Amino acid sequence: MRGPVLGAGRRLRGGWGIGWHLARRFFGSLRPGGPRPADVEWVQAVLSVAELRLWERLSGPDRRHSVEVAREAQRLLGPEAAGRPVLAAALLHDVGKLDAGLGTPGRVAATVIGVAAGAGSVSRWTGKGGFRGRVARYLQHPQRGAELLAEAGSDPLAVAWARGHHLPPERCGIEPDLAAALRAADND
Ligand SMILES: [Fe+2]
Ligand SMILES: [Fe+2]
Repeated sequence: MRGPVLGAGRRLRGGWGIGWHLARRFFGSLRPGGPRPADVEWVQAVLSVAELRLWERLSGPDRRHSVEVAREAQRLLGPEAAGRPVLAAALLHDVGKLDAGLGTPGRVAATVIGVAAGAGSVSRWTGKGGFRGRVARYLQHPQRGAELLAEAGSDPLAVAWARGHHLPPERCGIEPDLAAALRAADND
């Protein structure tokens, strides 16, 4: 479990911080409710039954974020390049957060703890109960998301992007130009 935590920790140090994106996501996440009905219909047309089951378990703010990322990826890449596997990758990149059991304030705390404590310390909390266990699971959401998507029979691209979406481009596991577009579409 060290690898994914290490990856998340590095990404935290390199790009998350406590900056504009985090503040914007924080305040945006406080607004309850999922995407608009038209967006839900679009997601239903894109995802497989098993993927949709996972997506529907995400919180309202997480589903809104996933639609924003997928719509932006489609805009950046164009409708031809943004086929079903690409859209599924965008919609489900953060699906591993399902198992963390952390709301918005807890996620902010987990991010700060990930930076302060370092990846090594946080990885030792894996399997623990309580808040520390939830922090470890949150910071490992890329790996967990990849596992969930593999179990759901998702396209290898969606599995790879879930695993690699917080890693540096050379290690993210998908074609660099596509990774750049998906990363640009993801505002966290
Ligand atoms: Fe993520
Ligand atoms: Fe995201």
